[in-house]
Amino acid sequence: MKNALLSADHAVEALHAQRQDDYYPRFHLAAQAGWINDPNGLICINGVYHAFYQHHPFDANWGPMHWGHATSHDLVHWQHQPIALAPGDEFDKDGCFSGCAVDDRGVLTLIYTGHVWLGKAGDDDQVREVQCLATSSDGVHFVKHGPVLLPPEGIQHFRDPKVWQQDGQWWMVVGAKENQLGQVRLYRSHDLRAWTFERVLARAQTTAEGYMWECPDFLALGERHLLMFSPQGLAPQGYHNRNRFQSGYLLGDWQPGQAFTPNQPFRELDAGHDFYAPQSFTAADGRRMLFGWMDMWESPMPSKAHGWAGALTLPRELSLDTDGNVLMNPARELRALRGETQSFGAAQLRNQRLVLGAALQELALTVDTAASDAERYGVTIGNAARLYIDNQAQRLVLERFSDDPGLCGCRSVPLPPAGNMQLQVFIDRSSVEVFVNQGRACLTSRIYPADGERTISMFAESGAAAFGELHAWALGSIWE
Ligand code: FRU
Repeated sequence: MKNALLSADHAVEALHAQRQDDYYPRFHLAAQAGWINDPNGLICINGVYHAFYQHHPFDANWGPMHWGHATSHDLVHWQHQPIALAPGDEFDKDGCFSGCAVDDRGVLTLIYTGHVWLGKAGDDDQVREVQCLATSSDGVHFVKHGPVLLPPEGIQHFRDPKVWQQDGQWWMVVGAKENQLGQVRLYRSHDLRAWTFERVLARAQTTAEGYMWECPDFLALGERHLLMFSPQGLAPQGYHNRNRFQSGYLLGDWQPGQAFTPNQPFRELDAGHDFYAPQSFTAADGRRMLFGWMDMWESPMPSKAHGWAGALTLPRELSLDTDGNVLMNPARELRALRGETQSFGAAQLRNQRLVLGAALQELALTVDTAASDAERYGVTIGNAARLYIDNQAQRLVLERFSDDPGLCGCRSVPLPPAGNMQLQVFIDRSSVEVFVNQGRACLTSRIYPADGERTISMFAESGAAAFGELHAWALGSIWE
């Protein structure tokens, strides 16, 4: 593996030397260059946060998957680390696919999927996927120990293990595909090496519920249990399931040894264009957090021409409201990035546009929807996007503009019950994340403003809009 890792690190360096930064994030995790997708192995161990990610160090397109790696002491500022895993052994010949990290008595231990193409590269109908183990004594260099769990008979896809410890045992969920239907399988172990099948935790009943459930994650949230996964193959329904693939959750109850009993239908976690494969982890103080991949399969990615593609979302705190909604809020640690503040008093705009400035990366504002009769009102982000209330549709809309028609279009959520709506908006060089009413809804999308076209304005069309005070911050860089 040593040579494979060295040549991967050299490949990233070479791509990095040519990287163009117009779209490169200031405060989101990304590789130095090359392609990334899912967050992997998120953990806080021995006082250090680790974020790994699916990575192709040789190219800005997906390819044989490596695990890229970054570390942090505060969940805000990050340092790139050498590539942690490279494919090439017989069990992971064509990719070290997604997986997780655990703290095994102080030893950072990775459990990931070894992927092998049995037919032609890219032929998804002929694959072999096994769950593999790797350990590190220094948190940077890893030793592979090979497969610890093989696919059962009749299972076509079998990947993305997520492991946790509970009641003196290790538990693992794995995403799988059986007879063209997605499912999540549950296993248990005493030593992370020998695994016993426990049960299918949840499964699609029809193809409309997905042909493959990727990246499962199972965690206690409050008194309930949350099964997050990323189903492939959901049909679009009105405003729902608009992206190529979805990410969401079932909420229910579970005890070790018992069945999982979800008591509400699948809900999407984020309503934007670009959110996939989220993975949870526990912060140093016990909060439940997650990162997602801030992109979508098969979506145009203009940064490929600049030598890189893919970024993770901001770290988010998870909580639950009484209606069974998972709330996501930006990690409070991120306030450490706030630099210069600008505040704008409450404004009543009528058929007007008000320019606020260009170097505003975090916005906190309220709008009084009850006191606004404009047909559309909100915030424009350069020539790349606008976030507005559509008074006719009664929805909060995130609309994206681009020369590439494949990137144009709207995502939206219903307006919360009348009154004040609070918006917290993070605008990086090529992304926007919107948190509505303390995380009751989120919209995450990649955006690609032209150079010099990053001005933020407020606007009201065909009527008046009542904006409350607006606070804005320039945010620092996360790279140390
Ligand atoms: C999800 C996914 C995983 C797989 C990985 C491969 O985005 O398809 O199921 O492990 O990406 O890069």
